[in-house]
Amino acid sequence: MGGAGPERIAITMNVLLFGASGMVGQGVMRECLLDAEVKRVLSIVRVPAGRADPKLREVIHKDFFDFSEIEGELSGYDACFFCLGVSSAGMKEADYRRVTYDITLAAAQLLARLNPAMTFIYVSGLGTDSSECGRTMWARVKGKTENDLLRLPFKAAYMFRPGGIVPLHGVKSKTGFVQVTYKVLGPLLPLLYWLFPHYVTTTEQIGRAMLKVAKQGAPKSIFETADINRM
Ligand SMILES: NC(=O)c1ccc[n+]([C@@H]2O[C@H](COP(=O)([O-])OP(=O)(O)OC[C@H]3O[C@@H](n4cnc5c(N)ncnc54)[C@H](OP(=O)(O)O)[C@@H]3O)[C@@H](O)[C@H]2O)c1
Repeated sequence: MGGAGPERIAITMNVLLFGASGMVGQGVMRECLLDAEVKRVLSIVRVPAGRADPKLREVIHKDFFDFSEIEGELSGYDACFFCLGVSSAGMKEADYRRVTYDITLAAAQLLARLNPAMTFIYVSGLGTDSSECGRTMWARVKGKTENDLLRLPFKAAYMFRPGGIVPLHGVKSKTGFVQVTYKVLGPLLPLLYWLFPHYVTTTEQIGRAMLKVAKQGAPKSIFETADINRM
Protein backbone atom coordinates (compact mmCIF):
# COMPACT_ATOMS: atom_id res chain seq x y z
CA MET A 1 0.00 0.00 0.00
CA GLY A 2 1.38 3.43 -0.86
CA GLY A 3 0.97 6.87 0.70
CA ALA A 4 -2.31 8.50 1.51
CA GLY A 5 -3.30 11.92 0.18
CA PRO A 6 -1.81 15.16 1.41
CA GLU A 7 -4.79 16.16 3.58
CA ARG A 8 -4.40 16.58 7.34
CA ILE A 9 -5.78 13.51 9.10
CA ALA A 10 -5.73 14.00 12.83
CA ILE A 11 -5.63 16.81 15.35
CA THR A 12 -4.33 14.56 18.08
CA MET A 13 -2.42 11.40 17.55
CA ASN A 14 -1.57 8.28 19.53
CA VAL A 15 1.84 6.89 18.64
CA LEU A 16 3.37 3.46 19.11
CA LEU A 17 7.17 3.41 19.18
CA PHE A 18 9.59 0.51 18.72
CA GLY A 19 13.35 0.90 19.28
CA ALA A 20 13.04 3.87 21.66
CA SER A 21 16.29 2.97 23.42
CA GLY A 22 18.28 3.21 20.16
CA MET A 23 19.79 6.22 18.45
CA VAL A 24 16.98 6.79 15.96
CA GLY A 25 14.30 5.87 18.49
CA GLN A 26 15.59 8.31 21.13
CA GLY A 27 15.41 11.13 18.59
CA VAL A 28 11.94 10.16 17.44
CA MET A 29 10.74 9.85 21.04
CA ARG A 30 11.98 13.38 21.79
CA GLU A 31 10.06 14.87 18.87
CA CYS A 32 6.89 12.93 19.78
CA LEU A 33 6.98 14.15 23.38
CA LEU A 34 7.54 17.75 22.23
CA ASP A 35 4.73 17.68 19.67
CA ALA A 36 1.50 19.15 21.07
CA GLU A 37 -0.55 17.09 18.60
CA VAL A 38 0.76 13.82 19.99
CA LYS A 39 -1.53 12.79 22.82
CA ARG A 40 -0.03 9.46 23.89
CA VAL A 41 3.17 7.54 23.19
CA LEU A 42 3.41 3.83 23.94
CA SER A 43 6.95 2.50 23.82
CA ILE A 44 7.53 -1.25 23.53
CA VAL A 45 10.91 -2.10 25.02
CA ARG A 46 12.90 -5.03 26.42
CA VAL A 47 14.42 -3.00 29.25
CA PRO A 48 12.76 -0.07 31.08
CA ALA A 49 14.24 3.28 30.01
CA GLY A 50 13.29 5.00 33.24
CA ARG A 51 12.09 8.06 31.37
CA ALA A 52 9.12 9.91 32.86
CA ASP A 53 6.69 11.99 30.84
CA PRO A 54 2.93 12.42 31.26
CA LYS A 55 2.35 11.35 27.66
CA LEU A 56 4.61 8.31 27.79
CA ARG A 57 3.92 4.74 28.82
CA GLU A 58 6.32 1.85 28.46
CA VAL A 59 5.40 -1.77 28.00
CA ILE A 60 8.18 -4.18 28.85
CA HIS A 61 8.16 -7.17 26.55
CA LYS A 62 10.80 -9.87 26.24
CA ASP A 63 9.96 -11.85 23.10
CA PHE A 64 9.90 -9.55 20.07
CA PHE A 65 9.13 -12.46 17.75
CA ASP A 66 5.72 -12.91 19.35
CA PHE A 67 3.60 -10.01 20.60
CA SER A 68 0.46 -12.02 21.39
CA GLU A 69 1.03 -11.63 25.14
CA ILE A 70 0.68 -7.82 24.87
CA GLU A 71 -1.90 -7.79 22.05
CA GLY A 72 -4.42 -6.09 24.34
CA GLU A 73 -2.12 -3.05 24.62
CA LEU A 74 -1.64 -2.48 20.91
CA SER A 75 -5.00 -1.13 19.67
CA GLY A 76 -6.09 2.49 19.31
CA TYR A 77 -2.96 3.91 17.70
CA ASP A 78 -2.82 6.26 14.71
CA ALA A 79 0.84 5.76 13.92
CA CYS A 80 3.68 3.34 14.55
CA PHE A 81 7.26 4.55 14.24
CA PHE A 82 9.37 1.42 13.90
CA CYS A 83 12.97 2.39 14.76
CA LEU A 84 14.12 -1.01 15.99
CA GLY A 85 17.00 -2.53 14.03
CA VAL A 86 20.60 -3.66 14.17
CA SER A 87 23.77 -3.10 12.21
CA SER A 88 24.57 -6.04 9.91
CA ALA A 89 28.30 -5.76 10.69
CA GLY A 90 29.64 -9.22 11.51
CA MET A 91 26.23 -10.88 11.26
CA LYS A 92 25.26 -13.91 9.20
CA GLU A 93 22.31 -13.37 6.87
CA ALA A 94 19.99 -15.70 8.82
CA ASP A 95 20.66 -13.86 12.11
CA TYR A 96 20.35 -10.42 10.55
CA ARG A 97 17.14 -11.44 8.82
CA ARG A 98 15.70 -12.76 12.06
CA VAL A 99 16.04 -9.36 13.76
CA THR A 100 15.41 -7.16 10.74
CA TYR A 101 12.63 -9.05 8.97
CA ASP A 102 11.07 -11.45 11.48
CA ILE A 103 10.69 -8.97 14.34
CA THR A 104 9.43 -6.16 12.10
CA LEU A 105 6.86 -8.32 10.33
CA ALA A 106 5.74 -10.00 13.58
CA ALA A 107 4.88 -6.55 14.93
CA ALA A 108 3.53 -5.08 11.70
CA GLN A 109 1.21 -7.98 10.82
CA LEU A 110 -0.41 -7.79 14.25
CA LEU A 111 -0.65 -3.99 14.18
CA ALA A 112 -2.25 -3.96 10.72
CA ARG A 113 -4.93 -6.34 12.00
CA LEU A 114 -5.54 -4.35 15.19
CA ASN A 115 -5.24 -0.83 13.70
CA PRO A 116 -6.36 -0.72 10.06
CA ALA A 117 -6.36 3.11 10.23
CA MET A 118 -2.69 3.15 11.28
CA THR A 119 0.19 4.81 9.43
CA PHE A 120 3.28 2.62 9.77
CA ILE A 121 6.74 4.14 9.29
CA TYR A 122 9.79 1.89 9.07
CA VAL A 123 13.44 2.95 9.31
CA SER A 124 15.53 1.06 6.78
CA GLY A 125 18.58 2.77 5.28
CA LEU A 126 20.24 4.43 2.30
CA GLY A 127 20.94 1.80 -0.36
CA THR A 128 18.10 -0.55 0.54
CA ASP A 129 17.58 -2.97 -2.35
CA SER A 130 13.93 -3.12 -3.44
CA SER A 131 14.78 -5.87 -5.97
CA GLU A 132 15.70 -8.14 -3.01
CA CYS A 133 18.34 -9.86 -5.17
CA GLY A 134 21.40 -7.58 -5.18
CA ARG A 135 24.85 -8.46 -3.84
CA THR A 136 24.63 -6.65 -0.51
CA MET A 137 23.14 -8.82 2.22
CA TRP A 138 21.72 -6.12 4.51
CA ALA A 139 20.22 -4.24 1.56
CA ARG A 140 18.40 -7.34 0.28
CA VAL A 141 16.99 -8.11 3.72
CA LYS A 142 15.85 -4.52 4.27
CA GLY A 143 14.38 -4.54 0.73
CA LYS A 144 12.33 -7.65 1.44
CA THR A 145 11.22 -6.13 4.76
CA GLU A 146 10.13 -2.89 3.07
CA ASN A 147 8.32 -4.72 0.25
CA ASP A 148 6.35 -6.94 2.62
CA LEU A 149 5.47 -4.00 4.88
CA LEU A 150 4.13 -2.10 1.86
CA ARG A 151 1.77 -5.03 1.14
CA LEU A 152 0.15 -4.98 4.58
CA PRO A 153 -3.33 -3.44 4.91
CA PHE A 154 -2.29 -0.30 6.82
CA LYS A 155 -3.95 2.99 6.02
CA ALA A 156 -0.50 3.95 4.75
CA ALA A 157 3.06 2.73 5.11
CA TYR A 158 6.26 4.69 4.54
CA MET A 159 9.85 3.55 4.37
CA PHE A 160 12.50 5.98 5.64
CA ARG A 161 15.99 5.45 4.22
CA PRO A 162 18.46 7.64 6.10
CA GLY A 163 22.17 7.57 5.25
CA GLY A 164 24.39 9.13 7.90
CA ILE A 165 22.52 10.36 10.95
CA VAL A 166 23.76 13.17 13.17
CA PRO A 167 22.64 12.45 16.75
CA LEU A 168 21.35 15.66 18.36
CA HIS A 169 20.20 16.59 21.88
CA GLY A 170 22.32 14.00 23.68
CA VAL A 171 21.08 11.03 21.65
CA LYS A 172 23.44 8.02 21.70
CA SER A 173 23.72 4.87 19.62
CA LYS A 174 23.37 1.47 21.33
CA THR A 175 25.82 0.03 18.82
CA GLY A 176 29.36 0.42 20.19
CA PHE A 177 31.26 1.07 16.95
CA VAL A 178 28.59 3.51 15.69
CA GLN A 179 28.81 5.52 18.92
CA VAL A 180 32.62 5.57 18.74
CA THR A 181 32.48 6.73 15.09
CA TYR A 182 30.12 9.56 15.98
CA LYS A 183 32.32 10.55 18.93
CA VAL A 184 35.43 10.66 16.72
CA LEU A 185 33.66 12.65 14.00
CA GLY A 186 32.26 14.97 16.71
CA PRO A 187 32.30 18.57 15.49
CA LEU A 188 32.50 17.48 11.83
CA LEU A 189 28.99 16.03 11.93
CA PRO A 190 27.03 19.27 11.51
CA LEU A 191 29.37 20.14 8.64
CA LEU A 192 28.70 16.79 6.96
CA TYR A 193 24.98 17.36 7.35
CA TRP A 194 25.31 20.78 5.74
CA LEU A 195 27.60 19.54 2.93
CA PHE A 196 25.72 16.34 2.06
CA PRO A 197 21.98 16.88 2.57
CA HIS A 198 21.28 13.96 0.21
CA TYR A 199 23.19 11.55 2.42
CA VAL A 200 23.12 12.90 5.96
CA THR A 201 20.20 13.77 8.21
CA THR A 202 19.71 14.24 11.96
CA THR A 203 17.75 12.40 14.62
CA GLU A 204 15.60 15.52 14.94
CA GLN A 205 14.83 15.68 11.20
CA ILE A 206 13.83 12.01 11.19
CA GLY A 207 11.45 12.47 14.11
CA ARG A 208 9.90 15.61 12.69
CA ALA A 209 9.53 14.09 9.23
CA MET A 210 7.85 11.00 10.69
CA LEU A 211 5.34 13.14 12.56
CA LYS A 212 4.60 15.27 9.53
CA VAL A 213 4.09 12.27 7.25
CA ALA A 214 1.91 10.52 9.83
CA LYS A 215 -0.29 13.61 10.18
CA GLN A 216 -0.52 14.71 6.56
CA GLY A 217 0.31 11.67 4.43
CA ALA A 218 2.64 11.88 1.45
CA PRO A 219 2.44 11.17 -2.27
CA LYS A 220 5.15 8.49 -2.21
CA SER A 221 6.00 5.67 0.16
CA ILE A 222 9.81 5.59 0.03
CA PHE A 223 11.69 8.47 1.64
CA GLU A 224 15.35 8.85 0.78
CA THR A 225 17.56 11.04 2.99
CA ALA A 226 16.89 14.19 0.95
CA ASP A 227 13.12 13.59 1.22
CA ILE A 228 13.43 13.27 4.99
CA ASN A 229 15.34 16.55 5.17
CA ARG A 230 12.86 18.28 2.85
CA MET A 231 9.92 17.28 5.08
N1 LIG B 1 22.54 4.89 13.21
C1 LIG B 1 22.68 5.13 11.94
O1 LIG B 1 23.61 5.86 11.53
C2 LIG B 1 21.69 4.56 10.93
C3 LIG B 1 21.79 4.95 9.59
C4 LIG B 1 20.87 4.44 8.68
C5 LIG B 1 19.90 3.53 9.08
N2 LIG B 1 19.82 3.16 10.39
C6 LIG B 1 18.78 2.19 10.76
O2 LIG B 1 18.00 2.69 11.81
C7 LIG B 1 17.51 1.63 12.63
C8 LIG B 1 17.81 1.96 14.09
O3 LIG B 1 19.21 2.12 14.22
P1 LIG B 1 19.87 2.79 15.51
O4 LIG B 1 21.10 3.46 15.05
O5 LIG B 1 18.84 3.55 16.27
O6 LIG B 1 20.29 1.46 16.33
P2 LIG B 1 20.80 1.33 17.84
O7 LIG B 1 21.17 2.61 18.45
O8 LIG B 1 21.79 0.22 17.83
O9 LIG B 1 19.45 0.82 18.58
C9 LIG B 1 18.87 -0.41 18.23
C10 LIG B 1 17.47 -0.49 18.76
O10 LIG B 1 16.87 -1.72 18.33
C11 LIG B 1 16.51 -2.50 19.49
N3 LIG B 1 16.79 -3.92 19.24
C12 LIG B 1 17.86 -4.44 18.60
N4 LIG B 1 17.76 -5.79 18.57
C13 LIG B 1 16.60 -6.11 19.20
C14 LIG B 1 15.95 -7.35 19.48
N5 LIG B 1 16.48 -8.53 19.12
N6 LIG B 1 14.78 -7.32 20.14
C15 LIG B 1 14.24 -6.15 20.52
N7 LIG B 1 14.81 -4.93 20.29
C16 LIG B 1 15.99 -4.92 19.64
C17 LIG B 1 17.38 -2.00 20.62
O11 LIG B 1 16.73 -2.29 21.84
P3 LIG B 1 17.53 -2.75 23.18
O12 LIG B 1 17.81 -1.47 23.92
O13 LIG B 1 16.57 -3.62 23.90
O14 LIG B 1 18.77 -3.46 22.74
C18 LIG B 1 17.42 -0.50 20.29
O15 LIG B 1 16.25 0.13 20.72
C19 LIG B 1 18.23 0.35 12.15
O16 LIG B 1 17.36 -0.39 11.34
C20 LIG B 1 19.39 0.89 11.31
O17 LIG B 1 19.73 0.02 10.25
C21 LIG B 1 20.70 3.64 11.32
